[in-house]
Amino acid sequence: MKQALILYATREGQTKKVALALAQHFVDLGSAATVHNLQDSIETADLQNADLLLFGASMHAGGLERELVDFINDQATSITRRPHAFFLVLLSAATADQDLREKSLSDAQNKVQQQLNVEFDDMEYIAGALRYSKYSRPVRWVMRRIAQQHGENTDTSRDYEYTDWATVKTYAERLHNAYLAAN
Ligand SMILES: Cc1cc2nc3c(=O)[nH]c(=O)nc-3n(C[C@H](O)[C@H](O)[C@H](O)COP(=O)(O)O)c2cc1C
Repeated sequence: MKQALILYATREGQTKKVALALAQHFVDLGSAATVHNLQDSIETADLQNADLLLFGASMHAGGLERELVDFINDQATSITRRPHAFFLVLLSAATADQDLREKSLSDAQNKVQQQLNVEFDDMEYIAGALRYSKYSRPVRWVMRRIAQQHGENTDTSRDYEYTDWATVKTYAERLHNAYLAAN
């Protein structure tokens, strides 16, 4: 049975939700999947046993989580020896205006590449969530302004999830066909 190792980092929890959904889809498709939060230590030997190393992170003010950046850059040689892919969870992927969305995602891709010493040819962008209830007052104010600029929800009395779970499933199927399906 083929093995996927999903290594993720998150600040408000949405990337973890996506990582767990992807793992469940891989299992449903007949492969094994392990999900690991990069805040916890990991046996680096496990990297060599995986048929797919799938990294997931979210973007905050253009930055990726420090623990993920450090892990990828420290383990760059081992990672590039194995099939590897990356998904980024961010609000820009939910932008309704197509031109603005494409420009924002292209900027995000450049920012990811500036931070990582590993090139990811296989990258996916997944719409994240606005969790006003989890933000401090100043962050809530900033996020409301950003949401306004991008035509997203500005009622801070509730949270919003933009992740399209059908798209996540299609993404899992694509990864499975490319890296995990039996030949
Ligand atoms: C302080 C802050 C900064 C953010 N910066 C960006 C950003 O630069 N680009 C973007 O597309 N989304 C940005 N977001 C939205 C997050 O990427 C989105 O909420 C995502 O779902 C967070 O994922 P997580 O819950 O896994 O941390 C930001 C969110 C916060 C709270």
